[in-house]
Amino acid sequence: MPSRTKPPDHPFTARQNDEILPTMLAITNIGELVVVPPGPIGGRSMRNVTTIASAAILIDADRITWFGPEREMKVPPGSDSIDAGGGCVLPGLIDCHTHTVFAGTREGEFVQRIEGKSYAEIAESGGGIRVTVDAVRSATCDELVERALPRLKRMLHNGVTTVEIKSGYGLTGRDELKMLEAVKRLNDLQPIELVGTYLAAHTTPREFADRPDTYLDAILDDEVLARIRDEKLAEFCDVFCERTAFDVQRSRRVLTTARRFGLTPKLHADQMTQMGATRLAGEVDAISADHLETIDHAGIKAMKSAGCVAVLLPACSFFLGVPQAPARRILDADLPVAIATDYNPGSAMIESLPLAMHIACTQMRMTPTEAVIAATANAAAAINRHHRLGAIAVGMQADLLILDVPNHRRWMYEPGRNCVRTVIQAGTMAATKG
Ligand code: NIG
Ligand code: FE
Repeated sequence: MPSRTKPPDHPFTARQNDEILPTMLAITNIGELVVVPPGPIGGRSMRNVTTIASAAILIDADRITWFGPEREMKVPPGSDSIDAGGGCVLPGLIDCHTHTVFAGTREGEFVQRIEGKSYAEIAESGGGIRVTVDAVRSATCDELVERALPRLKRMLHNGVTTVEIKSGYGLTGRDELKMLEAVKRLNDLQPIELVGTYLAAHTTPREFADRPDTYLDAILDDEVLARIRDEKLAEFCDVFCERTAFDVQRSRRVLTTARRFGLTPKLHADQMTQMGATRLAGEVDAISADHLETIDHAGIKAMKSAGCVAVLLPACSFFLGVPQAPARRILDADLPVAIATDYNPGSAMIESLPLAMHIACTQMRMTPTEAVIAATANAAAAINRHHRLGAIAVGMQADLLILDVPNHRRWMYEPGRNCVRTVIQAGTMAATKG
């Protein structure tokens, strides 16, 4: 099937000359339709979701126009149809926190951690993020694109239709722009909708050791930020607020400066150390605070008044072998919770969002229903796309998965196998099992 153009409110340039298909598409014989409502959805309301058995969906161009019990469907003449074979249908997954553009690998550190070193110790002794920075600096934009394409293809086959990708391995104005340029090009080369985030404040590079403020001067340069704004290279600005990276005062400077150039704040918060990042999230009106492994009662209270999405990264703690974020306490506080992979070569070499959701179920005691809402409606809210993506509702974009299992609980119960049969992105079949 030819692909349709990406929707007009997309930040990047829509693909040119793609054929727009005029016909309607019906998905029939759905065993369980998971009617995820648009986000953000507070933690206490994530327990339950409406499901419809023997359901169908109608799609016109890239939008959902009807859904309900199949016996009530009125199919317009000339419609195409897909038989879901009794499988479960739900919104396409949204991976709202990734570092998918990178070069090189770091299996040496993986072994060092097994032998007893911590992530922070490795970072402090010159390893960690800086190793990937060296590899990314020596790669061209073309090479970064070439390396990321197969990763995105596998993500799509795992049911992911939207991915946020951060810069943060360039750590010079030029190399950070190169990473964001790679994201923009990747967006045009494959079906997943990509969202860029400027994370130059990931760590202080070697050449600025002990001069973090001078480094911030460089990456908060007016010309760099104006280019990101003018060429629509990113929508968000993120900062690693951590002992080994940037303190609250410097994080505040990064986020408020970037905000003046139209970038919405996000934070890596309370991952290893509590620095007060959750309070800063409220102060700068961040759209999300991510990680939260070491968040305490006061931090949860701060998040509550910040009113932002709590993005949890269960695959990261799983990969590092450290305790998970207290998901149940965060959910009980009624915060909207999202789940993402944090896919990166250092702390989460895991590109499968369904696996991250499964880890959330078994290690964080989130239910399969909570995990699905966290990776759809609430993940959409974490990247400001909840008005268009992440839900089954009339008028929402038709990003849908057809699973080869009859319900979403069975999906989460089978982490070792890809249960995604067909992926529909913006009303178009984007991937299907061979
Ligand atoms: O989200 N925490 C900071 N950044 C990444 C790790 C990046 C890396 O180690 O390369 C994370 O875990
Ligand atoms: Fe991260």
